[in-house]
Amino acid sequence: MDKRTDKITLEAVREQLGECRRCELCETRTTIVFGVGNPQAEVMFIGEAPGKQEDLGAEPFIGAAGKLLNSLLEVAGLTREEIFIANVLKCRPPNNRDPLPSEIEICSPFLRDQVRAVNPLVLVTLGRFATQFILKTDVGISNLRGQVHLTGRFSVLPIYHPAAALYDPSKKEVMERDFELLGALIAKRRKELTP
Ligand code: URA
Repeated sequence: MDKRTDKITLEAVREQLGECRRCELCETRTTIVFGVGNPQAEVMFIGEAPGKQEDLGAEPFIGAAGKLLNSLLEVAGLTREEIFIANVLKCRPPNNRDPLPSEIEICSPFLRDQVRAVNPLVLVTLGRFATQFILKTDVGISNLRGQVHLTGRFSVLPIYHPAAALYDPSKKEVMERDFELLGALIAKRRKELTP
């Protein structure tokens, strides 16, 4: 907590997480992947869970999906330095299996606090798990992506997970359009805040 503003800080969230042993993923992980980026980012990205490279490097999206994400960020006029990136799960599921509902339940308070700490203008949810968690819905990602959703005081833009475009290159064009939309959404949100 920042004593001057009573606002939760990323440092405090990291401290609460500690050397987490709240679920079985602690037995197989190499490192906890907390999240990286600008603590005051206007745009916060949320992925699913660390993969192999992230588990070794302790940073989200540094593997193949991350390389694609970097090129898509350029479409929106963004750099990695100005955004914040975190995942729903902070530890890698063995063999990159899907997160279990129990793991999401145990880990999600930390993501919720990270969102409160960063307090972005726009949340970008990458793929099904991040989108369904943030929007509290069971609707599939194909029906949610590319549209701006409002939840609380956040604008949420769901986008396919970059890994989906690695398996199915036809999704890349759709993702590029969604990142163009993201660029326009950021410009609109900034304008709304200009006195
Ligand atoms: N996929 C994710 O969802 N997150 C990462 O950090 C890497 C790959």
